[in-house]
Amino acid sequence: MATGRTRGRGVLEGVTPRPQGEPAHRDLPVGTSARLDATDVHGLAARAFLRSEGLSAEAVRSRPIVGIANSWSELNPCNAGLRDLATAVKRGVVAAGGLPLEFPTISLAEPFVAPTTMLLRNLMSIDVEEMIRANPIDAVVLLGGCDKTTPAQLMGAASAGKPAIQLGAGYRATSSFEGQPLVIDQLWELGDRRRAGDLDDDAWLELEGCLNITAGHCNVMGTASTMAVISEVLGMALPGSAAIPAAHAQRVAAAEATGRRAVELARTGTTPADHITPAALDNAVRAVLCLGGSTNAVIHLEAIAGRLGLRIGLDRWAELSRATPVLGDLRPSGPHLLEELYAAGGVPALLHELDALGMLDTSARAGSGETWAEVLARTAAPSNRSIRPHREPVAEEGGIAILRGSLAPRGAVFKRAAATPELWRHTGPAVVFEGVDDLHARIDDPALGITAAHVLVLRHAGPKGAPGMPEAGHLPIPVHLLRQGVRDMVRLSDARMSGTASGAVALHVAPEAAEGGPLALVRDGDLIALDAIEGRLDLLVDEAELARRRSLWVAPSGGPRRGWGWLHHRHVLQADEGCDFDFLRA
Ligand code: FES
Repeated sequence: MATGRTRGRGVLEGVTPRPQGEPAHRDLPVGTSARLDATDVHGLAARAFLRSEGLSAEAVRSRPIVGIANSWSELNPCNAGLRDLATAVKRGVVAAGGLPLEFPTISLAEPFVAPTTMLLRNLMSIDVEEMIRANPIDAVVLLGGCDKTTPAQLMGAASAGKPAIQLGAGYRATSSFEGQPLVIDQLWELGDRRRAGDLDDDAWLELEGCLNITAGHCNVMGTASTMAVISEVLGMALPGSAAIPAAHAQRVAAAEATGRRAVELARTGTTPADHITPAALDNAVRAVLCLGGSTNAVIHLEAIAGRLGLRIGLDRWAELSRATPVLGDLRPSGPHLLEELYAAGGVPALLHELDALGMLDTSARAGSGETWAEVLARTAAPSNRSIRPHREPVAEEGGIAILRGSLAPRGAVFKRAAATPELWRHTGPAVVFEGVDDLHARIDDPALGITAAHVLVLRHAGPKGAPGMPEAGHLPIPVHLLRQGVRDMVRLSDARMSGTASGAVALHVAPEAAEGGPLALVRDGDLIALDAIEGRLDLLVDEAELARRRSLWVAPSGGPRRGWGWLHHRHVLQADEGCDFDFLRA
């Protein structure tokens, strides 16, 4: 066992833990199945309506009701397997003596939802929260998968305050192209080859047919996989479940076990607030850093914590990053496939190594209800090098660096694990793009004279400016540089980046340009200094000139005039606060 454990270090800086037993959120009454047992006309009516679905008199009485919040949708291929998993969840619920009742929620698919799924993450969380709260269910199983569906469900369930457990869709199977294994992160490189004229129409059509060969979410350690790991580490999914492939029989077995566990949760009354504690959040941050997980996790985890009155903060990420080695050697940062992570023992094997380093609070709860200490007592060390032994890390410090400086007073993130190390420190002249449309219109314009030493800057792509903070931060390399063999250069923005992408990219610059952050003041040719080792991002322009520019700056007017866009624009928080709505936090 490890020495120098971190037990007791789980309370995050600046966080006041909720007093024991105090509910996280109780401003509306929470529905329970008790009304089904009522002897009055309302109880009879509730039972009668359920019996219209063919349920027996016995089935609608005295059983814990387990809702199954299913984000299955034909508009979300990543979640296409969730119908089958719901069937298995029901089997588990019935076997444990509960009554399963499946219901739909909205679903958000990265490839389809415009302008970005992030614009609707909070909407889905509201849907999940209110459906759980309003209906007569005692516990809920959350079925998610594609990037935003997992955090939206966790946010909603945390706010609803009823017992909840999650099961992810699992990741798609690895396919092949040009005789080599093919996973989703290669799409970016193949796209660059197409732009450079290196893939003909036949190859392009072949790629379309073989990129995604099963249901399931993206098959690298991108956002969906990172969020699945987070859910498991937080104790919101069964231990060992996150790394199971979508098409594997064990995922179906995990669904049945999740149904059984949901009935136990209904009986004990254990809520997300009992699992998502400051200690569990610390563990989740460590796991993301140790895996070289998606930068989007920084935003989503903060939003989940905020629903329970907790705060992580970028300073805590920075502190833990400096002290946490990278052990995951998985695509898109490393060579190994997710199937190898599963073979290595999945999340428990990863936590086994973190524990060996004394970097895990093992008193936190796993999704089984055990402490992580109990789970790890029967967990072996990783059996392959997709998770390095703790004494042989890929890197001594965490995969995500937090940047601060004159260009990012409220912080920015940089995925060191996926960037060219020679670019971790770089100073170069800026080329500024005023939003996503401008970027696409001009990035390949030879008149800009962009060299590999330039720093590409995208602004007005943040939570309000875009709106919705799209994954536009992975600015494309200009085509003339691609033809010269340039594959990475420094880029920065107030946008996010797909967890499947890689490169020397500073993201989530806060405050965003639309809020008048220093990013709004950058001009073509200004020198920008990135230092991802010291955690700095600076605009090398003197104060007097910046003050002059600020005096001339005009805030973008307007924003949407009605509907969801109006609500989003007025209430969304900045990236360092998780982009939740101010009125949704606890
Ligand atoms: Fe759904 Fe990547 S597109 S997880």
